[in-house]
Amino acid sequence: MGGDQSTTTTTQPAAAVPAPARSRRAVLATSLCAALACAFVLSAGLLLAAAAGGHRPLQPRAAWDRLSRAQQHKAAPAPEPATRASSSSPAAGGDGGGWSQEDEDEGAAPAPAPAAAEEEPGEEVEDGECDVYDGEWVVDEAAGYPLYDAAECPFLSGQVACRRNGRPDSGYERWRWRPRGCGARTRLGGAEALELCRDKRLVFVGDSLNRNMWESLACILYAAVPDRSRTRIIDDDASQYRIFRAMDYNCSVEFFWSPFLVKLETEPDQTRALKLDQLPTMLRRTMGANVIVFNTGHWWTHTGKLKAWDHLERDGKMVEMAGEAAFNRALRTWARWIDQNIDPSRTRVFFRSVSPEHKSADWCYNQTQPISNGTIAPWFPKDLVTIVERNIKSMRTPVTYLNITQLSEVRIDAHPSVYTITREGKPLNTTQRQQPLTYADCSHWCLPGLPDTWNVLLLDSLIRPTSNVDLQG
Ligand SMILES: *[C@@H]1O[C@H](CO)[C@@H](O)[C@H](O)[C@H]1NC(C)=O
Ligand SMILES: *[C@@H]1O[C@H](CO)[C@@H](O)[C@H](O)[C@H]1NC(C)=O
Ligand SMILES: *[C@@H]1O[C@H](CO)[C@@H](O)[C@H](O)[C@H]1NC(C)=O
Ligand SMILES: *[C@@H]1O[C@H](CO)[C@@H](O)[C@H](O)[C@H]1NC(C)=O
Ligand SMILES: *[C@@H]1O[C@H](CO)[C@@H](O)[C@H](O)[C@H]1NC(C)=O
Repeated sequence: MGGDQSTTTTTQPAAAVPAPARSRRAVLATSLCAALACAFVLSAGLLLAAAAGGHRPLQPRAAWDRLSRAQQHKAAPAPEPATRASSSSPAAGGDGGGWSQEDEDEGAAPAPAPAAAEEEPGEEVEDGECDVYDGEWVVDEAAGYPLYDAAECPFLSGQVACRRNGRPDSGYERWRWRPRGCGARTRLGGAEALELCRDKRLVFVGDSLNRNMWESLACILYAAVPDRSRTRIIDDDASQYRIFRAMDYNCSVEFFWSPFLVKLETEPDQTRALKLDQLPTMLRRTMGANVIVFNTGHWWTHTGKLKAWDHLERDGKMVEMAGEAAFNRALRTWARWIDQNIDPSRTRVFFRSVSPEHKSADWCYNQTQPISNGTIAPWFPKDLVTIVERNIKSMRTPVTYLNITQLSEVRIDAHPSVYTITREGKPLNTTQRQQPLTYADCSHWCLPGLPDTWNVLLLDSLIRPTSNVDLQG
């Protein structure tokens, strides 16, 4: 790590980076979209807003301005008590009772059958205070999922372009997350996303799961831009930096790779030190962004060959520490940096909760339906989750916790599994697909797919000034 100083930066029109085999289709899709799909997304969005019980159509721009003003008026921001209405439903006790579909035998399970978008009692709630992370997955044709087509997003990486890699089913693209009792909230499409991004810089910092989320947002925005020649992708492989820009909207969405948040450095003797009290210098480049979304987690649990560090370091000295103590120490370093360097009137800070894997007991291989009986063995150590939540609560800066773990846990169907690529960048061949133990990826997520929902929830909370530190308990 870090040995290679050469950087290869490519800057090009986003439309000009298709995978070779797709270029013709991508171009076709581009012009088609300009003519049809984008107009459809836009009008569908307006129709939906209008249909949802006589609401004013969403006005994200105004909402953002309100938020900015509200933040500017907030002197020393103190964590506000959560004021959300109770959203627990008596029928939902632990059995995941809210599923709109019956569980079907695996293997023969067809893609989810389209169900009519039902109106629910909550649909009439106006701008309700509610818990958007409590809800259910529904197939809702009217909501327009997927928000884009894989063929419409030429820079979509092979790792998560499941259809391109031969995944035959597509039901996993069509589920919409419907929060309980939140009215028309979270019914966002690409057109609204673009308006929310206007004159803004959104930054993702973290591991490859945050890159997965960055790709998702870049695709949502790209597919909605009317003139796609006015977009750019910068892909700096060596320094693990990516940026998507929509020039006509002065919108940029960036990703910085930093899987531990704290600094990982290769020493002169080639050992790798994880420096618990230092942050990577690149973090400074995020300052001034309007939105920063952090995550860390997976890399702290790696053992054996996957473990990325040889020793831990503090105050310039090697230290022995239990994994949890080290994780806590690193998060304190991060939290202090945020409190000292981020101006909350200018920057909204988010921390995305852990993205679940489906590797051992609940394996993603061959899964085409979400889990409907709600009994999954949580995979990530609970102690580490507690450490994240405690550190966020102790911060002076308001940090919104994107609490996506539970809603993602049931999406066992949404991973690339064997429809991913090899280290050489090629889709798995037939023989390899028959060796899922070696090749299946049950950690990242197919796109379009689940991370699109994470982004919808992110964008939704951008227009909510009250959703600052709202951890429960
Ligand atoms: C995250 O969301 C789940 C599901 O709504 C909820 O049970 C849990 O308490 C939430 N966690 C926090 C820290 O708010
Ligand atoms: C473009 O967006 C940046 C934030 O990324 C903002 O500071 C700048 O004022 C915007 N430019 C214009 C012309 O609005
Ligand atoms: C996975 O699905 C394939 C194709 O439907 C089938 O041939 C195979 O037996 C399944 N494997 C397992 C372990 O269920
Ligand atoms: C949940 O459903 C799966 C099949 O969809 C089944 O294998 C599992 O045993 C069920 N778990 C419980 C606790 O009912
Ligand atoms: C699949 O790839 C492996 C590893 O490169 C190779 O050994 C094998 O022959 C390939 N199988 C097919 C059917 O192409």
